[in-house]
Amino acid sequence: MSFDWTAIEQEAQKEINQASSGEAIEALRIKYLGRQGLLAEITGSISALSASERPEFGKKANYLKNKLTRFLEERVSQLKEKESQDLETFDLTLPGEPIPQIGTRHPITQTIQEITAIFSKLGFVTVEGPEVENEYNNFSGLNIPLDHPSRDAFDTFYLKPETRNQKPVTRKERFLLRSHTSPVQIRVMKEHKPPLAVIVPGKVYRPDAVDASHSFVFHQIEGFLVDQEVSFADLKGTLTAFAQRLFGEKIQMRFRPHFFPFTEPSAEVDISCMLCKRNQKPVTRNQEKKCSVCGGKGWLEILGCGMIHPNVFANVGYPKDKYSGFAFGMGIERIAMLKYGINDIRLFFENDLRFLRQF
Ligand code: PHE
Repeated sequence: MSFDWTAIEQEAQKEINQASSGEAIEALRIKYLGRQGLLAEITGSISALSASERPEFGKKANYLKNKLTRFLEERVSQLKEKESQDLETFDLTLPGEPIPQIGTRHPITQTIQEITAIFSKLGFVTVEGPEVENEYNNFSGLNIPLDHPSRDAFDTFYLKPETRNQKPVTRKERFLLRSHTSPVQIRVMKEHKPPLAVIVPGKVYRPDAVDASHSFVFHQIEGFLVDQEVSFADLKGTLTAFAQRLFGEKIQMRFRPHFFPFTEPSAEVDISCMLCKRNQKPVTRNQEKKCSVCGGKGWLEILGCGMIHPNVFANVGYPKDKYSGFAFGMGIERIAMLKYGINDIRLFFENDLRFLRQF
């Protein structure tokens, strides 16, 4: 019987040097040196040899066994070394896996902060009021009588009236989700004497069906200033300074006469359309029609305002004819939509991160 000793050795060496893990090496050790391995098979065949052939054969088998043992040991230490080298070349100072963006402020919050920052520089302080408001502050205190038609758009979300000792509750004890931020005028003026310059951001609720431009909940910012001899010119100056800071120096404003029960005179304020700029340059008829922001009118309504009605001053207990003041209220969503070119109010409330991450 004869073996190609060199071929076996070379074949085994090649195989062992290709092993790349502890398990692979162990498998090869079993294959060659195990109890039923190749070497065991070879030495087992020695009995078939004559006595004179045995010493030579035994020597060769022993030599092969030592060789294979060494190959295996060498490969094990090679792999160990490689492992520690890999560890050494691993740069601990590399930045880690990026953590997904934690979050940003909601575009409505950002708009509120921007607006309050502008008014704060004009000397206004920021105050907040409750979203659950009593009927008096929301309506009657603001000179909106019980049967006034303007209550229709506002009458909404009443809380279940509590009865006290079987007596019907008074208007001060009936609660609803406030339909505007104006009731905070009553709260502040009852507590504080003029001079006052206050700004009130917050949520308001209306019986409106949800569509691209309406929502039953939205945000407003109320502002009011009360002192002696405040005039409509002060109102115009304040609002113009505000609009120019928010929308840019070039913006134009227009005051249209309007009606609010709690201001007299009252006005609605429009700003010139920042998209088609119809009021700043001549535009063809065709272009006018196409403007998706103002619908070709060139003007965008942004707020309601006026001089605080004497009845409101009387309701908060201010002396007759002593003070004058102005108030205004604007919808935040509308302003944010104009500022960022957003065409659907629902986007603000759907919590779609693809939308929110853009701000
Ligand atoms: N409260 C009014 C509204 O919600 C806005 C307004 C505020 C108008 C203050 C005049 C003065 O429509």
